[in-house]
Amino acid sequence: MKYVAVLCRCIAIALPLMCTQPQWAHADSGAQQEFQAAMRRTADPTRGRELFPTCAACHGIDGAGAADGSAPAIAGQYYAVILKQLVDFRDDQRWNQRMEKVLYQRHLIELTDFADIAGFVSALPRQPNRNIGDGSALRAGTAAYFRDCASCHGAVGQGNAARVTPRLGGQHYIYLAREIRLAGDLRRPNMAAHARTVRKLSLEEINGVADYLSRLYPVAERR
Ligand code: HEC
Ligand code: HEC
Repeated sequence: MKYVAVLCRCIAIALPLMCTQPQWAHADSGAQQEFQAAMRRTADPTRGRELFPTCAACHGIDGAGAADGSAPAIAGQYYAVILKQLVDFRDDQRWNQRMEKVLYQRHLIELTDFADIAGFVSALPRQPNRNIGDGSALRAGTAAYFRDCASCHGAVGQGNAARVTPRLGGQHYIYLAREIRLAGDLRRPNMAAHARTVRKLSLEEINGVADYLSRLYPVAERR
């Protein structure tokens, strides 16, 4: 009888742990469910191409983003990462008026639309990036990157599709530096898990990490 009680207690403790997916530990459950529902859709990239002009207005016809860094490069980002960001902008896990406005337009309301666009955009080739830092913080930034970030985002910022970890290599300097600062200030909910690490970085290190990544043009490991 005693053993049964112990066994029951062990199961009670182990079950919730087994059911938790650690990488989503900080995610809002509504957004998480919507993302998982979106991942079950089958993307139609041909339809995605038809919807893409809405996006090209800011992200460019080649998905390279705006050269001044005001809109990020999205071409060649992983399918799951793009899909998750689209869901997150809509589900209050990421705050940006311009993106929210686009995604609330009635013709982009279906998760299938998100999947189709993500299918098209993820297959676009990543373009060489000209929005890079001034090099002054490169040494400090590279060291910080390999110490705190490369374990997940990869040595050349290639990310990891299976872990829904974004590719950062070749992204705009201005954009990266801004997103890292937002994470440190808890102003980007889907990066809340970054806050503790980012707060330990100096401004020089943040700018240097962004500079290091902006210069990379990863050709290794596509998906
Ligand atoms: C009015 C300009 C504008 C339009 C139109 C627009 N975007 Fe964006 N997009 C932005 C800005 C600005 C950001 C950066 C937001 C931020 O800093 O959080 C962004 C961010 C993104 C991101 C996140 C990138 C990353 O690396 O995490 C994705 C994905 C994205 N947009 C896809 C799209 C798609 C797909 C469309 C078309 C349906 C679209 N955008 C239309 C301005 C725009
Ligand atoms: C434990 C793994 C892990 C570590 C360590 C990590 N990241 Fe991330 N990072 C992620 C994941 C996963 C995402 C996607 C978050 C989401 O959208 O849910 C992400 C997102 C990002 C983004 C947003 C990319 C975009 O396109 O908008 C930036 C920028 C970033 N990380 C920078 C960093 C930096 C800088 C460090 C080191 C200081 C770092 N990360 C450390 C896993 C990690």
